[in-house]
Amino acid sequence: MSVDVVVAAGDLVIRRLRDDDEDYSRMTRWRNSPHVLRWWDPDLPPRTIASIKEEYQPDTAADAASTACIIELEGVPVGFIQFYRWISYAEEAAHVGIPFDDHAYGLDVFIGEPDRIHRGLGTRVVAMLSDYLIAERGASSVSLTTAVDNHAAQRCYEKAGFAKFEQLLDTDTYRGERVRSWLMIKEGAR
Ligand SMILES: CC(C)(COP(=O)(O)OP(=O)(O)OC[C@H]1O[C@@H](n2cnc3c(N)ncnc32)[C@H](O)[C@@H]1OP(=O)(O)O)[C@@H](O)C(=O)NCCC(=O)NCCS
Repeated sequence: MSVDVVVAAGDLVIRRLRDDDEDYSRMTRWRNSPHVLRWWDPDLPPRTIASIKEEYQPDTAADAASTACIIELEGVPVGFIQFYRWISYAEEAAHVGIPFDDHAYGLDVFIGEPDRIHRGLGTRVVAMLSDYLIAERGASSVSLTTAVDNHAAQRCYEKAGFAKFEQLLDTDTYRGERVRSWLMIKEGAR
């Protein structure tokens, strides 16, 4: 198994984002795709390779607070997923209202290739990574936020073992307003 693989099962691999133009260029294309842009920083201007590199290069370091990853299906990059301990983003978590302890993790995901969405892939990836964080990294919980009108994401997360906890206002904005979101949590073993 390649050293940059975080977790893998069958045809599905989650590997670390590489500090190279190939990964930055696919991230740029995905972030500018309408189906991702609608739910992922929609108020920001179109992404460029330079802005993507500036945003994600720090997360390619071995000791980065957030681990940025590419999802590969049958060896083909199809999406992005990142995870982090909430304690590394304590100020943001407190501002939004996300409860956390020292071992609470968060994650964020998108499937970048539009012909791959709504076919069960998101559920597999989110279940695989959250199970890995709980079993291998001792996560007490894994939590995330998703817009109240992002019904496909909510369904995906529920199928991956998350439950709706409460509504809150995310720091992301859509048309200038903070996005009303569901906080969804999957409990760990601690
Ligand atoms: C959200 C996302 C990661 C989910 O991954 P996915 O592979 O599409 O999800 P899945 O196919 O595993 O599950 C989606 C579920 O939502 C359902 N769904 C799709 N569109 C829906 C809609 N408009 N309303 C309600 N349910 C919907 C699907 O039918 C499926 O449920 P089912 O298996 O019970 O039929 C992916 O769609 C995506 O990247 N979307 C764009 C970016 C985004 O929203 N990221 C998440 C931000 S929080």
